[in-house]
Amino acid sequence: MLTINNIEVVYDGVILVLKGVSLEVRDGSITTLLGANGAGKTTTLKAISGVLRAERGEVTKGSIELDGKRIDRFAAYDIVSHGVVQVFEGRRVFVNLTVEENLVAGGHVVPNLPKVRAGIERVYSYFPRLKERRQQQAGYLSGGEQQMLAIGRALMSDPKLILLDEPSLGLAPMLVEEIFGIVRQFVTKEKLTVLLVEQNAAMALDLADHGYVMENGRIVLEGAAATLRENSDIKEFYLGLNEGGVRKSYRDSKRYRRRKRWLS
Ligand SMILES: Nc1ncnc2c1ncn2[C@@H]1O[C@H](COP(=O)(O)OP(=O)(O)OP(=O)(O)O)[C@@H](O)[C@H]1O
Ligand SMILES: [Mg+2]
Repeated sequence: MLTINNIEVVYDGVILVLKGVSLEVRDGSITTLLGANGAGKTTTLKAISGVLRAERGEVTKGSIELDGKRIDRFAAYDIVSHGVVQVFEGRRVFVNLTVEENLVAGGHVVPNLPKVRAGIERVYSYFPRLKERRQQQAGYLSGGEQQMLAIGRALMSDPKLILLDEPSLGLAPMLVEEIFGIVRQFVTKEKLTVLLVEQNAAMALDLADHGYVMENGRIVLEGAAATLRENSDIKEFYLGLNEGGVRKSYRDSKRYRRRKRWLS
């Protein structure tokens, strides 16, 4: 469905962030893109969804194709109307709007009211908690509910490909499992396709069919998710396990350092 051919991305005309990235997302699959802080994961998603330009970023080499059609020169709204939607890092919802108003906002590309209504019902069927809180201001939702709302809002544009940027961030493992279970249903029930960016490699590789590992603006590893789970480098660096399968201290893991950075 989606093919990225050797793209380079430059910010501010000089900062080279993606240094020749190629990846493929198969129709009806979940593909995960893993990597440490600053590897270029979010930049890759933004290159696909066309929002780079708003941040003075540019795809300077290579191409991005959706079903064989080049989309790397398209405007962001055009890409949404071609069925590609990004759920941004940090579960950005409109905090002053209610849950339902957020969903309506996500449906702005949907042509008519009955379709918007059907879209809202579809979101509520996946996330009953959002239905219970439909009139509540989004800013008062819990972190997990806000993440559900951010995903639900993306679903409102009736996408075929959803780009998810670190949906697990800051959420309890049980909640992540719940959300990932729903993402899996998108694929099995609705034939959607998902590209999932994660630092939580263990959970992402459990969910995904295929994975890529990115380091410093390049893809350094690729394979079936099951194969990557067994890879010793991945175990060490991303799953926090040593050769004996023992979990290392969180103090050593990148995730811990990242939390600290967020808190400071
Ligand atoms: N708008 C921007 N202008 C300049 N540099 C940027 C911009 N956005 C990102 N970068 C740089 O590009 C690199 C990759 O950033 P990106 O956000 O894609 O990484 P990431 O893999 O998503 O990291 P994280 O896990 O922390 O979210 C970083 O070095 C970052 O500082
Ligand atoms: Mg990021």
